Order: sequence, then C-alpha cells, then structure tokens
Amino acid sequence: MMKREGSQSKVIRLTDKLAQRAVLNTEAEAGPRPNTRVIAITSGKGGVGKTNIVANLAFAMTQLNKKVLVFDGDLGLGNIDVLLGLTPKHNISHVAMGMMKMTDIVVSGPGNMMILPASSGIESLTHLSEAQRDRIYASLRQMLASVDIFLIDTGAGISSNVMNFTSSAQEIIVVVSPEPTSITDAYALMKVMRLHYSHRHFNLIVNFAKMAKEAYELYRQLKVVTDRFLDISLEYLGYVVADEEIPRGVKLQRVVSEVFPNSQASKCFATLAKKIVESPRSGPPAGRLIFFRENAGG
Ligand SMILES: Nc1ncnc2c1ncn2[C@@H]1O[C@H](COP(=O)(O)OP(=O)(O)O)[C@@H](O)[C@H]1O
Ligand SMILES: [Mg+2]
Repeated sequence: MMKREGSQSKVIRLTDKLAQRAVLNTEAEAGPRPNTRVIAITSGKGGVGKTNIVANLAFAMTQLNKKVLVFDGDLGLGNIDVLLGLTPKHNISHVAMGMMKMTDIVVSGPGNMMILPASSGIESLTHLSEAQRDRIYASLRQMLASVDIFLIDTGAGISSNVMNFTSSAQEIIVVVSPEPTSITDAYALMKVMRLHYSHRHFNLIVNFAKMAKEAYELYRQLKVVTDRFLDISLEYLGYVVADEEIPRGVKLQRVVSEVFPNSQASKCFATLAKKIVESPRSGPPAGRLIFFRENAGG
C-alpha cells in the first residue's frame, strides 16, 4: 500500500514537473516575432505631443495592415485611454498580482489597435518582486508573439521610470517641438540614454512644425550638436504640422487620423507610419525586454 502511494505521488510529482516544463517551454518559445518591432516614443519635455503621436501612428499603421500593440507608459495627464475614449477596468498591476493575464487587460481601440492600459498601475510596478516581474515578462512576451509593432508611450524627462521603458525598446523615437526648451531637453535625454543605457541610435520627429523646411532645419541644428558632443547617430523621421484638427479630435476623444483623415496632421501621420513600417529596424534585433528593472542604469 505504502509503496503504491509512494510511486503514485512520484508520478504526480513527475507529471507536475513535466507540466511545469511544458509551460516554461511555451513561454520561452513564445516571444517577440523575429519581426516584432519594439518602439518607444519619448521626449525630454512634456506636452510635445507624444501621446497623440503614438495613437495616430498606431492607427495609421493598422491601416497598413499591421498588428499594433500600444503600451501606455505615461503617468502624466492625458493618458492614451482617455484620448481614445476608452475606460479600461484593469491594468498591468492586475497582471503583476497574478490575478489576470495580459490578454485579459488588453483593450481594443480604433483600427483594431490593441492597448495595454498600464499607466495607472505603473507606480506599483517599481516595487515588484522577482516573481511578479517574471510573470509580467512571460505574459508580455506571449502577447508580443502575435503583434508586428509594439509602441510604448513613455512619460517625458529623464526619471528612472521613463528611462526604463525607453531603454527596453529597440528603437527610440524622440519627439521635439520648435521650442528651445524642448530641444535642450531632448539633447539631455539622448545624453543620458547614451551614457547610462548605451543607446547609440535615435530617431527624431518634429511636432508642431509650421512647415517641412522648418522641421528639417530644427533636426539639422540638433544634429550638429549631437554629432559634436555625443557619440550617437540621429536620424530624421519627419514632422507633424501644428494643426488645430488634433485638439479638435482630442475633444471628441477620437484620433485625428480617423475622424479627420484629410487634415494636414493626418497626412503627416500617414507619411510617418509608412516610413517607419517600410524602414529597416534601426536598433538591435528583438531581444529580452528589460521592463521594470529596479535601479536600472545607475
Ligand atoms: N501637431 C499638433 N498640433 C496642434 N496641437 C497638438 C499637436 N500635437 C499635440 N497637440 C496638442 O498638444 C497637447 C499635448 O499633446 P500630448 O500628446 O498629450 O503630449 P504629451 O503626451 O507629449 O504630453 C494636446 O492638447 C494635443 O491636442
Ligand atoms: Mg502623454
């Protein structure tokens, strides 16, 4: 009797182990597709249009038949769910606590883009245990297996939270507006990303531009300084015109590219999305996402 029970429990334990291994294997196999692009949109200064750019690029990319997942990593006001008129009930903290999977918290937005509501749960993410962090990684990696483009809307500035999100991306898009403070803050951001996170390649979008020439000139001036003082490459992606249709869309809680597709701004977003989708990825190949590190970068 004893012996039988013993071998039975052994079998159960073995089955358990095999099951665990199977789970681990699936999680290891599921990960970003080789072609999944992880792109962070960031800025030195707030209010330069990051969230609108993320929402509109995401929408424009869905129109190019891309499967797009947006991660709302911006703790500031004007979060992407509000911008899109969504009211998600759950956020990433529910995944961290093991109550839900990423697939349970994801919400669908315009053009069938997917949005991971995170911002309201992010504060707690800086105090995650190892197990919680692993849970988020595993769940996120599985999600990424089914998307073409993962866009991260980061907060502004050089706080460690923002930097963690930004540094976890392969490709970084820095948004600037023509204000001098926006430009100096963008420089400071790239300097910190280079020094503490070893990022060498950055892409630039100029928002609130009056015209194409002005935007390119701003890029050129910034590049003169980065070429001289930082060991980085800075690539020009393009610009978005200052367009009153954007705040009009915001008031309607709709993306301008969807409600006013013929506006100047929407044309800019379509051009940018096409350029990004068609360009080869500018960072290293998809690797481990290093989200939610504590004391990252030093
Ligand atoms: N190109 C633009 N033209 C006019 N208004 C804009 C433009 N881009 C953004 N805005 C407005 O600027 C404000 C800040 O934009 P937002 O995307 O929330 O910036 P951030 O996420 O960088 O803080 C919003 O009210 C938005 O409507
Ligand atoms: Mg924002």
